[in-house]
Amino acid sequence: MNFALGKKPDGRTPRSRVTPATVIAVASGKGGVGKTWMSCTLAACFAKMGRRTLLVDGDLGLANVDVQLGIAPETDLAAVIAGWVELEDAVTKVNGGAGSPVGFDVLPGRSGSGALAGLPAEEASRLAASLTALALQYDTVLVDLGAGIEDNVMRLARACDRCLIVANDEPTSMTDAYAFIKVLRGYAPSVQPWISINMADTRVAGRRTYEALARASQTFLGFRPPMAGIVLRDPKVREAIRQQKTIISMDPQAQAALDAAQIAEALIRGGAESIAQSA
Ligand SMILES: Nc1ncnc2c1ncn2[C@@H]1O[C@H](COP(=O)(O)OP(=O)(O)O)[C@@H](O)[C@H]1O
Ligand SMILES: [Mg+2]
Repeated sequence: MNFALGKKPDGRTPRSRVTPATVIAVASGKGGVGKTWMSCTLAACFAKMGRRTLLVDGDLGLANVDVQLGIAPETDLAAVIAGWVELEDAVTKVNGGAGSPVGFDVLPGRSGSGALAGLPAEEASRLAASLTALALQYDTVLVDLGAGIEDNVMRLARACDRCLIVANDEPTSMTDAYAFIKVLRGYAPSVQPWISINMADTRVAGRRTYEALARASQTFLGFRPPMAGIVLRDPKVREAIRQQKTIISMDPQAQAALDAAQIAEALIRGGAESIAQSA
């Protein structure tokens, strides 16, 4: 199996940049908190900011980035893992692809192809290394990680610069988010965890959820992950998913779209302001 990036079949070498992309994992611990929606929406936000963006569906077992975006990919990560195509040739373009005004590239997963957890460790590590190589062609790479805290999820997370942890106010989401932060800290101490609260009923309630998580981290792990932002519960999210469009292209003025745009800004700014806000 070969995940290496070589010459394309037409003899061209892939475009590469001096500075690799900022690679951001989107994680949650628990499923159903809006991780895939957040990943797709942030990809559209980064594209709108003029950044060449790649969205990777790292949730191999229950891949659904393609479903949320309404694309029908010809190849996917499962084909890459099987050794049938090179990683960079498995990219599908959304809205004209990376480099066009609102477009970005997607490396789709394949639902039912077997969970990431089932991959042998060295294949998961090779996949992570190949993503790092592919990042040379982009400004931002987002990885929608599968739920859970298994080793292979952590292997992918370890290849990232930052990890955006999505949580909501349900106790199970909060305990799983905390568990993720704890394991990530041990597994990949150089990866900066950020917290975003999704589906908050009010900003005050969202802030309270963040504070509970940040306090637990501070008390038991000795550090306070910064706040990336709060996304309010918004019926437009369901509508966009039903229409298989990003909320950014469906209704950029929707509350959840504006909230996600602020998170994209915070992640790129790198956080002095957000860290100060969260202190
Ligand atoms: N901000 C939000 N407001 C309202 N509903 C939301 C919001 N974010 C997510 N959802 C709902 O949550 C569901 C699960 O989202 P999804 O992205 O598939 O979660 P995950 O990837 O974490 O399993 C979506 O189908 C959507 O209906
Ligand atoms: Mg998902």
